[in-house]
Amino acid sequence: MNKVIELDYGYKIIEYEELASTMITLKELAIAGCDINTAVWAKKQNSGRGRHGREWSSPKGNLYVSFLRKPENKSSKNIFAPVFIVALAIAYSIKDVSGNKVVPSIKWPNDVLINKAKVAGILIENISLSSNINILNIGCGINIVSNPDNTLYPATNLNNEDVQTSSKEMIKIFFKNLKLLEKLYIREGIKEIYKMWGVLGHKIGDPISVKIDDNKIFGIFNGLNDEGGLLILNEAGCEQVIMAGDVFLL
Ligand code: BTN
Repeated sequence: MNKVIELDYGYKIIEYEELASTMITLKELAIAGCDINTAVWAKKQNSGRGRHGREWSSPKGNLYVSFLRKPENKSSKNIFAPVFIVALAIAYSIKDVSGNKVVPSIKWPNDVLINKAKVAGILIENISLSSNINILNIGCGINIVSNPDNTLYPATNLNNEDVQTSSKEMIKIFFKNLKLLEKLYIREGIKEIYKMWGVLGHKIGDPISVKIDDNKIFGIFNGLNDEGGLLILNEAGCEQVIMAGDVFLL
């Protein structure tokens, strides 16, 4: 029997010593009809996965958790709402556990960075429960004690940045911040979330590049569009809208 941690803010976290991936186990639970407040936490993953089909190195000591969320309505333009909300929840949780000493930044759309190195990543997958019911499976990986070398983007971990915490402490703070942000989103709307993302995200004029498949676009960050897509003013002076890709800070 797995241990279940019930948090004040409604989430039920099922704890596992080792899994292939929390994404797989949570998907199985969702298809079997688990409550939307279910989250799966593994101390270690054997087949951790990242964005764009990449591997997510998952040794013991870091945080690996997946949880469910209702998708935005089909007619909604706020497709980046879950992406930004979760990135903000992770960034604020790191700030909290560091006693406000470390304020992470966010690289579009949802990589959390400390000193320009990636400390946490988010993977969002869609689970189709029936022909017209979908649910989001959101996985978060936070490097607490270690990080892989040789990654596409330089990586770091919390201990390396002088932040001491445990995965259990991070989980509790993360779900508290997530709940607060979800409430704020319902109350104030996406504009407030964009505003908060803007404080930790890129600033207009920051030099960036975006890798999309085998192409790389160089330019400067020019804000977000109404849907949360990234606007880049390319070297030819034309604005391009990016809805998916790997951003690099230059
Ligand atoms: C990224 O590439 O930046 C996203 C990484 C997401 C990793 C997390 S760890 C918990 C969950 N289980 C997985 O296999 N992946 C996600």
